[in-house]
Amino acid sequence: MKSLQYILLISSIVVSLTPVYHGVEIIGGHEVRPHSKPFMASFQVFDKITDSYVHDCGGALIRRRWVLTAAHCKFNGSIRVVLGAHSLSWNEKSQQKFQVEEQHPHPDFNKKANANDIMLLKLSDEAKINEYVKLLTLPTNKSADVTPGTRCTVVGWGGTEPHSKYPSDTLQEVSLTVVDRETCNSDYHGYPKITQDLICAGDSQGIKDSYSGDSGGPLICKGVYKGIVTAGPDVPNPKKPGIYTLLSKKYLDWIEKIIGVQT
Ligand SMILES: *[C@@H]1O[C@H](CO)[C@@H](O)[C@H](O)[C@H]1NC(C)=O
Ligand SMILES: *[C@@H]1O[C@H](CO)[C@@H](O)[C@H](O)[C@H]1NC(C)=O
Repeated sequence: MKSLQYILLISSIVVSLTPVYHGVEIIGGHEVRPHSKPFMASFQVFDKITDSYVHDCGGALIRRRWVLTAAHCKFNGSIRVVLGAHSLSWNEKSQQKFQVEEQHPHPDFNKKANANDIMLLKLSDEAKINEYVKLLTLPTNKSADVTPGTRCTVVGWGGTEPHSKYPSDTLQEVSLTVVDRETCNSDYHGYPKITQDLICAGDSQGIKDSYSGDSGGPLICKGVYKGIVTAGPDVPNPKKPGIYTLLSKKYLDWIEKIIGVQT
């Protein structure tokens, strides 16, 4: 099980999270070229102790008013979404900040089973699409799985060191390989159970992984948005690949039901 000690800063407000979730690191990856991932959203929660917003999860802008993230990122308090960012600490002119009007976690989200860990966020206003802020297209083939062995990319501001307390300041990416469900199920001994709605991706050398803070961020395979960071081991571990919510037909239909034809 995964520990969330990394976000001690906001420990008082994350007590509801179970330890298996990533809350904040991309390990063994590298910084992306600034603004080369213009769909990336930083989901930030208000921390009363530091009197500021802190990065908690990643997400992807899928419509001008909608961000897709993980349900375990749901927060009861003041939250905002920052788009167009590369460095979270700089006051970049490219950034657009929004309050979150509605959080729509999947109604069947189950923390313990790591099931249906997907959530839509409705922004207070429409994002302005430009060089720094763009939409990430959902998969058009709703029934396509991801073949084991496929190389995928995860992008996030999660910490870059195991047990890091802090997110990365700049956006990072790491390349991982999809692991078949049978192997992944035996790696996790069925806790959680790797269903058809989850996929696993890891690094056979056990030095790369997505991490706590990367939660909610996109898994992109061959240029297609295929998954959402949900859970994984404490430290990169070849025996425990990261777990991703697959953008399966079930979830794509649910997304359509909520956002309809809105843009
Ligand atoms: C959310 O926070 C408010 C204010 O702290 C509290 O009154 C309310 O019960 C909380 N709701 C949930 C679902 O935890
Ligand atoms: C969609 O994916 C399924 C399953 O991989 C595949 O059989 C089918 O040919 C794909 N359809 C299109 C239009 O690419």
